[in-house]
Amino acid sequence: MITKPDQHQLSQVKNLHEELHYHNHRYYVLDDPEIPDSEYDKLLRELQALETQFPELLTSDSPSQRVGAPPLSEFTQVTHLVPMLSLGNAFNETEVLAFEKRLLDRLTNINPDNTITELEYAVEPKLDGLAVSLLYENGILIQGATRGDGETGENITENVRTINSIPLKLSGDNIPQTLEVRGEVYMPKASFEALNNKAREQGEKTFVNPRNAAAGSMRQLDSRITASRNLAMYCYATGRMVGADVPAKHSDALQQLASWGFRICPDSKVVTGAKGCLEYFEEIGSKRDDLSYDIDGVVFKVNSLELQHQLGFVSRAPRWAIAHKFPAQEEMTLLKDVEFQVGRTGALTPVARLEPVFVGGVTVTNATLHNMDEIERKDVRVGDTVIVRRAGDVIPEVARIVPAKRPDNTQKIVMPSQCPVCNSAVEQIDGEAVSRCTGGLVCPAQQKQAIKHFASRKALDIDGLGDKLVEQLFDEKLIENISDLYRLKVEDLIKLERMGEKSAENLIKSLELSKKPTLARFIYSLGIREVGETTAKSLSNHYLSLEAIKEADEENLQEVNDVGPIVASHVVSFFQEDHNNQIIDALFSTGIDPVLPIVVDAKELPLSGNTYVITGTLNKMGRSDAKAQLEALGAKVSGSISKNTTALIAGEKAGSKLTKAESLGVEVLDEEALLKLIKITASDA
Ligand code: IVH
Repeated sequence: MITKPDQHQLSQVKNLHEELHYHNHRYYVLDDPEIPDSEYDKLLRELQALETQFPELLTSDSPSQRVGAPPLSEFTQVTHLVPMLSLGNAFNETEVLAFEKRLLDRLTNINPDNTITELEYAVEPKLDGLAVSLLYENGILIQGATRGDGETGENITENVRTINSIPLKLSGDNIPQTLEVRGEVYMPKASFEALNNKAREQGEKTFVNPRNAAAGSMRQLDSRITASRNLAMYCYATGRMVGADVPAKHSDALQQLASWGFRICPDSKVVTGAKGCLEYFEEIGSKRDDLSYDIDGVVFKVNSLELQHQLGFVSRAPRWAIAHKFPAQEEMTLLKDVEFQVGRTGALTPVARLEPVFVGGVTVTNATLHNMDEIERKDVRVGDTVIVRRAGDVIPEVARIVPAKRPDNTQKIVMPSQCPVCNSAVEQIDGEAVSRCTGGLVCPAQQKQAIKHFASRKALDIDGLGDKLVEQLFDEKLIENISDLYRLKVEDLIKLERMGEKSAENLIKSLELSKKPTLARFIYSLGIREVGETTAKSLSNHYLSLEAIKEADEENLQEVNDVGPIVASHVVSFFQEDHNNQIIDALFSTGIDPVLPIVVDAKELPLSGNTYVITGTLNKMGRSDAKAQLEALGAKVSGSISKNTTALIAGEKAGSKLTKAESLGVEVLDEEALLKLIKITASDA
């Protein structure tokens, strides 16, 4: 028997729609959920049950319609109401200054009485995804389309519906009768990593970058696949709008979109003049790696919509906007040879010698190939044309080959059977991706790396003792191991090429200053295999002296936080080596004296129970120092802001975390306030 929904069921569906839309918006657009996921799922299941019972209640704007629909046989074509344009590019300061001059000149041409000498710009990250147009009639999403050739695109409505940050129904006031919104669909970096990890586990093909992954996911005829891909969208423009007031500025238009439920990039802002634009380019560039989404530059848009109208378009791009692009992070070049570099623990890393190529803002001649498994997976051979990637501060790597450009005479890359530096045998342990030189401390490469590690920032942080100088000192036979560093004299140093008296004196001073490391730093600096900063800290906190660590056996060591059987066996074998003990004794005899941590019950520390988040650039102390100091006073330092954060420490060029803190009403402290807090609190303690 066919039953009809009664009044109560009808209002139940209506309420569930409203509630689910509201919580979806809180979660995916505002990034500020109000209820736990389990509660959301419960509401969704309630709605789905009613929709199954009464299919006539299932509408296209139902919050249940995010899961995808049966596959299409092809995409239909859509003609855009207003053409989707592209942007002109600038690659340097001169081109940005020229852009502003063009604008001002044109405004004066249009109106000889023009008095504007400096323009206001809305500035935004240039998201690296896929441009999409969304069409709403009376507040309901009725169509989604790709940009295509700018005039006509593909109808991807079913796919668009699966993206949680795209409203299926608009909320708020003065909703226009017709609204076309543009923006970028992208795949967050974390989702991209997860997707590729899963593909790798299942032996499937991986995506090259988040943009390809987003584009590939949107091009699916089966929208259920799109639904599984964790895509997001930031909106950056209004296309056609009928039945609502057009604001005066682009930045207001974005706020208007946000008020209707669209997701707007939190890293956008308003600046003045080309100078403001260039500062923004630097600011976003410096935090590019920390952003949750991929970008390939920033976009500057004249903020006044009236001026935009006056400036108009040239060919297919607006005159009033420009993209300031970052240097490309991927370039193609020739792999000329592969050499093997020996690391501190003897691991042999294949390094590609390349035809020099300008990538990520620098000329790259060497790039890592990681290990033999990676070489095999990417099918790299000497003679191949390869794509080199250099993103941020990351070491350049060979990302992939270009199969179409492979010549006939490529050579397979083979792991040498002997260490290229000391000729000792190379061994590969079953189950490990790396091969190692068995020469241990007889191998000069391992000796040098051990000294570099000892002097590095996270270890004893010896100012002025960089990698190059370690190489020089070692090659000149002035040092053989870390304890020799403390026997160096100004007279020895000034004999070195490019070493002045002042630098020599400074280095001796820094060595002297490094003699009282914390026990944790000292343990880390010894370079015991698998003992990173955190494990070193745990060992130090647990044993409180180097002697006690030396005496511990494998079983005892495993009582320490994050020490498992492998780490324990490395620690024991390190202290079984006479050579290592001799070096440690020699270090102590030169006056090295690790400082023991002060043991205080964490609950009694002055900042116990407080959680801080640090963002932006701190000028007087590094972020890691600030973290260490706060932790020493009992505070927790977290990576993300929530309502429970005590305060955000915002240095210069703080970005989205600052916006989030402000929106959550979390206290914000600048560097001065942080210094005061540390000082005052420390004196209380
Ligand atoms: S505005 C009329 N803003 O860049 C101006 N575009 O070359 C239209 N893009 O395909 C674009 N982030 O997908 C604009 N904040 C942003 C953007 C952005 C990325 C892409 C867009 C378009 C391309 C233009």
